[in-house]
Amino acid sequence: MTGAGSEGHLHCVQRSEGGLHCPSASALLAEIADIGCDRRRGGYSRHVFDGAERELRGWFADHAARLGLDTETDRNGNVWAWWGTPGPGAVVTGSHLDSVPGGGAFDGPLGVASALTAVGALRARGGTPARPLAVVVFAEEEGGRFGVPCLGSRLLTGAIDAEAARNLRDPEGVTFAEAARAAGLDPARIGPDPEALGRIGTFVELHVEQGRGLIDLGSPVAVGSTVIAHGRWRFTFTGQGNHAGATPLSDRRDPMLPAAATVAAVRRLAAGVPDARATVGRLVPSPGGTNVIASTVDLWLDARVPGGGTQALVDDITAAARAAAADEGCALTVRQESCSDTVAFDDRLRAELGGLLGGVPELATGAGHDAAILAPHVPSAMLYVRNPTGVSHAPEEHAEPADVERGAAALTDVLEHLCR
Ligand code: GLV
Ligand code: MN
Ligand code: MN
Repeated sequence: MTGAGSEGHLHCVQRSEGGLHCPSASALLAEIADIGCDRRRGGYSRHVFDGAERELRGWFADHAARLGLDTETDRNGNVWAWWGTPGPGAVVTGSHLDSVPGGGAFDGPLGVASALTAVGALRARGGTPARPLAVVVFAEEEGGRFGVPCLGSRLLTGAIDAEAARNLRDPEGVTFAEAARAAGLDPARIGPDPEALGRIGTFVELHVEQGRGLIDLGSPVAVGSTVIAHGRWRFTFTGQGNHAGATPLSDRRDPMLPAAATVAAVRRLAAGVPDARATVGRLVPSPGGTNVIASTVDLWLDARVPGGGTQALVDDITAAARAAAADEGCALTVRQESCSDTVAFDDRLRAELGGLLGGVPELATGAGHDAAILAPHVPSAMLYVRNPTGVSHAPEEHAEPADVERGAAALTDVLEHLCR
């Protein structure tokens, strides 16, 4: 292990009596505050393999090197920084650096920054972990570019077919295979990675809380209990593109009408299912001119129902969309883009971490995470840090510096405990 932290890096890494340590998680987040700012939408737009996300990967690799970690990128674009020889039984922590369009500063980067800070704190405490320890940055957690959330962890675990993943397209028509090649990966090697998966003994992801749970509980930190089932569906309505002035209303087949009816049906039908969440956050008419009746409208549905009710809700929404399309003489195709079952994190690990952290509460979430993709394969856990706005996937997402440091300290204790 190289002792990084040359004189040139002293702004970032200080030497303490125990060895190298990293800046606080808040200071790390401040370092990346200008990367990927979205001047049009507000917040951050950092998408897998784009300029901002690659800059963040570089920032991560620099800090990992200064901590003496050895960094490698796996066949699916996930980055691993190792303390000790990579091998089975490793304790792994981390999160992601990509964002939703116009997202907040904490969703993803908080987990990565806290992991670096925690490793720095462990280094400063001295000693070497009895197990290999790694920080991982997963690729395309939000699905903000290629549409499938947690793409890097799904590929790692085989939860998505490799060929299907290679053929995913971003809004510009670039395939995941092409973007991966441009980022230096071999597209032929994209796919399940049993060796990388087999090294993970335990996975812990720290994440900003994405709702009001910890405000209501009055606690800065919680341990994750469950993640509700969630999926994405793409509805394409096809009508007849035409002139907005020259086409009488009676002569139109306007796909915007069934799309609008579907948006309303999503809210109405979801309201009838206990605890369901269903959202249309993206609607794209083509060609998209003010004086042009659209020829097609693509509408993306995000649906999440605790337990097993997601497909039944989507079936009802699909029936409403088909009826609205028929009324306007339009065609409809519906394609599922992703789907994940409800996940309960490992009972034993949850109880162990809750006890270690002094009895912090457990929290269920409606947000998806890489930890939930890993959970069926390896014991996995999550730590949440309070978000005083209760807002996420928006610029208002926040965590107070004191809570950020409490989260990083909790992660440090958890990693130290797991590495024994
Ligand atoms: C990711 O945060 C999601 O839940 O969509
Ligand atoms: Mn998110
Ligand atoms: Mn996230």
